[in-house]
Amino acid sequence: MLWAIKYRLLFSYLLVFGSILGVFTSAVRIFVTHSLEQEITEKLIDLAEGAAASSEYINGKIKLDNDFPIQDITNRHQGLQWFNREGNLLQQQGENLPNLPLDPHVKKQLLSGKNPIIAITLPIIGSEDGKLIGYVRASESLENLNKTLNKLDWGLGGGICFALLISGIGGIWLTRQSMQPIEESLQKLQQFTADASHELRGPLMAIKSNAVVAIKYPEAIRETDLEKFQAILSATTQMSSLTEDLLLLARTDIIPNQDVSFINLKEILDKLYTLYKPQAEAKEIQIQLQLDQDLYVLGDGEQLKRLFTNLLENAIHYTSVQGRIEITTRSVGSYIYVNVQDTGVGIAPDNLEKVFDRFWRADESRTYNCGGSGLGLAIAQTIAKKHAGLITVKSELGVGSCFTTRLLSISLFSKSSLSKNSSLKS
Ligand SMILES: Nc1ncnc2c1ncn2[C@@H]1O[C@H](COP(=O)(O)OP(=O)(O)O)[C@@H](O)[C@H]1O
Ligand SMILES: [Mg+2]
Repeated sequence: MLWAIKYRLLFSYLLVFGSILGVFTSAVRIFVTHSLEQEITEKLIDLAEGAAASSEYINGKIKLDNDFPIQDITNRHQGLQWFNREGNLLQQQGENLPNLPLDPHVKKQLLSGKNPIIAITLPIIGSEDGKLIGYVRASESLENLNKTLNKLDWGLGGGICFALLISGIGGIWLTRQSMQPIEESLQKLQQFTADASHELRGPLMAIKSNAVVAIKYPEAIRETDLEKFQAILSATTQMSSLTEDLLLLARTDIIPNQDVSFINLKEILDKLYTLYKPQAEAKEIQIQLQLDQDLYVLGDGEQLKRLFTNLLENAIHYTSVQGRIEITTRSVGSYIYVNVQDTGVGIAPDNLEKVFDRFWRADESRTYNCGGSGLGLAIAQTIAKKHAGLITVKSELGVGSCFTTRLLSISLFSKSSLSKNSSLKS
């Protein structure tokens, strides 16, 4: 569970940092693009203004002053075009001349395509009469600007990747640091539960044995006290089973699987079937077992037995008279699925998520006499997860429930490797 929180924390951190970086780089990109475009526009306006001031209309032709540095525009890969008042092209000089009809109302034009061009159009006003002579259009290719922006994109992209990598490493370290105290206090809490349950065992046993002795010799006590001792015995038995469950849960949480060996689930399920058949039959419940031949898993035999005991006990407990329970298995790929299906009371859809919570019971009165403590499925799920597995449930109220346990099969191993390791089993 903690690793899931760690990953969520790291993912959220990277998402926030990535978003900030994204916004920042977009802002840089927009600012640089705007500045470079503005710079080119200003240069072209200067050029067009200079050309307009140096142009004169003589005998139907536009003449340019001799001192206008026409050679410079070619060196700077710019172009100049002159138009008469009607918008007809009269003359042109330089490079990157846009093949566009003149639009005297639009000052700035952008020509996209293979060779994108920016053009600025200004009117030419006669110096003597102040009348409109024609128009001059200055243009320049945006190729260099695009190359610069391309380099900037690569730089920003590389920078983002590098920053995300560094922040990812930093994030892992930060997550570890921030989760450490939580992990420690959780471990302490689990240790406390384990210790408390362990310490409670002794006094409970003492109360229980004293009650048993008192009930055994009823002549030594008053008749009315007998009932009280029976109540004490029943309550102590419940408490003992509760502390045992808590201890088991705490230990399963804290201690890694130690008694690991190759386990044949078939043997466990066969034994449980034989053990619980009389109990089911006493309730007139029909119980059926259908197993595949080899169901080998790697794990702790006692824990796996406990897992299926809890599921089977629930199935019997929550199925009413003349019901039916089926235990079936199926192997799919590298997984073994064990289904414990009953025709019992079922679970409401809203409660399906809660059944594996500790101490959760559909019967909210928490009267322990009518079943367990609400830890059975929590224990079963913890055991399944410790075996790299999972228990899922499908249920319909009033129809029945199906608890499916998925475990990692080791049928992929060759028989020789099984027999080689079978010493582990003993
Ligand atoms: N087979 C089942 N059919 C219907 N309800 C079930 C079944 N198994 C479990 N439940 C519900 O889930 C709750 C939790 O189960 P469990 O953890 O085993 O606790 P307990 O059996 O001690 O109450 C039960 O109280 C019951 O409401
Ligand atoms: Mg139970």
